[in-house]
Amino acid sequence: MLKVLVTGRDGQLGQCIKSVAHQYPNLEFDFKASSELDITNKAKVESFFNNQQYDYCINCAAYTNVDQAEAETELAHIINVLGPKYLSESCSKHQVTLIHISTDFVFDGNASNPYKETDSTNPIGVYGKTKLEGEQEIIEKLNNYFIIRTSWLYSEFGNNFLKTMQRLASERDEIGVVGDQIGSPTYAIDLANIVLGLIQDRNTSYGIYHYSNEGVISWYDFAKEIFRLSKSTIKINKIETKDYPTKAKRPKYSVLDTSKIKHFTYISNWKDSLFKAILNINN
Ligand SMILES: NC(=O)c1ccc[n+]([C@@H]2O[C@H](COP(=O)([O-])OP(=O)(O)OC[C@H]3O[C@@H](n4cnc5c(N)ncnc54)[C@H](OP(=O)(O)O)[C@@H]3O)[C@@H](O)[C@H]2O)c1
Repeated sequence: MLKVLVTGRDGQLGQCIKSVAHQYPNLEFDFKASSELDITNKAKVESFFNNQQYDYCINCAAYTNVDQAEAETELAHIINVLGPKYLSESCSKHQVTLIHISTDFVFDGNASNPYKETDSTNPIGVYGKTKLEGEQEIIEKLNNYFIIRTSWLYSEFGNNFLKTMQRLASERDEIGVVGDQIGSPTYAIDLANIVLGLIQDRNTSYGIYHYSNEGVISWYDFAKEIFRLSKSTIKINKIETKDYPTKAKRPKYSVLDTSKIKHFTYISNWKDSLFKAILNINN
């Protein structure tokens, strides 16, 4: 039996991992909410690892509000940089493998081909910058880590684009969605299964990986398919980024090259995964 600590239990990915955990009977889970394990509390993190012998730690805890991060720089830094730093120090001391989730926002979005794990990073906002520094803390302190960069995460849990679009469909007759930001959605349940698959297979090919569902689309395309599958009659207009100002700049192109992780796993098409997510929401 492998013992797995999951931080950030009540976030979107934490809840997804919890919902599929029963499919992995050989793994014993210890899910911790932020109130039980604050990853920015060094002493608390240390005592947690001193008192329990874990084989893996999945870090689902993060500061994820991209716009708010521009104003809350210090808090974003504490959670996204110091949190992973303290976790890696304890993982290193106790020989625990750390699986950490990062983001496409570590890139500037000026590319025109999918980003590989080895491509130069250049975050354009506070959130991406802190996530990148968090990665660097882990790489510096640990050998046995997986850093999985993902993009456009959505699911039946937490706050995300799918749920926002479904809510707006019930409130409005018409909506504008940006059509000039290109990326790939990721169903967080698929990501949860990839993460648990790495553990179950006792995979030791440590390093950075890119993971998203298959397909390259705009937010407009994503919204259109959400409304089609949800049988919504809302009118959707394609708008440009300049018509939808946000506090933080978004990468224009954030497609991740997933060839490396495909050595271990099958990746489903974004439309198939979206279909499953909407079925799960409706059931
Ligand atoms: N969402 C996306 O579109 C997206 C895209 C690419 C990558 N990612 C990455 O994917 C990962 C999971 O994202 P998500 O969507 O699941 O995020 P989320 O729903 O915002 O969940 C984040 C969780 O972190 C917890 N947390 C915050 N500060 C903490 C602390 N100091 N100690 C312990 N827990 C703390 C929060 O707890 P409370 O709720 O109690 O504060 C929350 O449960 C993150 O690393 C994120 O950067 C997300």
